[in-house]
Amino acid sequence: MVSIDTHHACVDFPIFDAKTRSLKKAFLGAAGGAIGRNTDNVVVVEALKDVNLHLREGDRVGLVGHNGAGKSTLLRLLSGIYEPTRGSASVRGRVAPVFDLGVGMDPEISGYENIIIRGLFLGQTRRSMKRKMDEIAEFSELGEYLNMPLRTYSTGMRVRLALGVVTSIEPEILLLDEGIGAVDAAFMAKARVRLQEMVKRSGILVFASHSNDFLAQLCNTAVWINHGEVHRTGLVDEVVEAYEGPEAGAHMRRMVRQFQGEDAAVSVAPEDEEAHARALGLAIDDAASPAPGADASGSGDEA
Ligand SMILES: Nc1ncnc2c1ncn2[C@@H]1O[C@H](COP(=O)(O)OP(=O)(O)OP(=O)(O)O)[C@@H](O)[C@H]1O
Ligand SMILES: [Mg+2]
Repeated sequence: MVSIDTHHACVDFPIFDAKTRSLKKAFLGAAGGAIGRNTDNVVVVEALKDVNLHLREGDRVGLVGHNGAGKSTLLRLLSGIYEPTRGSASVRGRVAPVFDLGVGMDPEISGYENIIIRGLFLGQTRRSMKRKMDEIAEFSELGEYLNMPLRTYSTGMRVRLALGVVTSIEPEILLLDEGIGAVDAAFMAKARVRLQEMVKRSGILVFASHSNDFLAQLCNTAVWINHGEVHRTGLVDEVVEAYEGPEAGAHMRRMVRQFQGEDAAVSVAPEDEEAHARALGLAIDDAASPAPGADASGSGDEA
């Protein structure tokens, strides 16, 4: 059973070289988390504050919010790269993070070789990656480029490779940062079906993005993060509407309906979505279960 539970999780970044004398009393700008001081009077960026999330099998959650809201920090917390400064984050399941696509790939070796390296990073054996090679190559549609060094690839071509690898290894928890927005529409349609099937089998997807189109394609629920705090949770169209206004909400609903029609075979029923929203509504709760401590698992590498 896969699950993600955070209880009052906070992530502070101490900034030891901040110009403390000139730092004005913290006020919240349009971007970034709150800036304050810790008990040692060191300047800290409060990237995440009191985050309570409870995600379960089948949840496909979009993270929305302004630049510096804390979306990427939350993904890194869930992948185990960061530990909570206070509170806890407990993640059960095999985690595959897909963050900065340049990191963890070698530009000088071929696409084929990078597929193996990525697989090793994500805990696979060389042999099992070789077995999956044809399937990944076919999915990525990179053809002859797979024999060329990665530095000859465009951003979207790298994303194709990375998505081919993560979806082939069947992670239980997939953490995506917005880089995947670089793929073209045709590939996204294909990736969407594969990602949805993967999540449906036994998984959780958490996807940070500024693109409503991608959110509509991949997510059923969403979390709006504002200056490091969970501001609102619910169905993806409701959250986008609250964040961006009625027009964006209506556009979202049209897209969600369209994609549900297209993927009738793999999409969740609307009743299920409501159940998800209810579950997410509990995200603000303060479950009485014992704080499990920061046991976020994951390979901690960057895709
Ligand atoms: N390594 C770091 N050191 C110090 N501060 C950091 C670090 N990483 C992030 N922050 C700060 O944490 C806050 C949250 O950043 P984060 O990258 O999580 O935002 P985001 O929601 O992903 O934004 P964007 O939409 O621009 O990608 C910001 O105020 C940022 O300045
Ligand atoms: Mg980010």
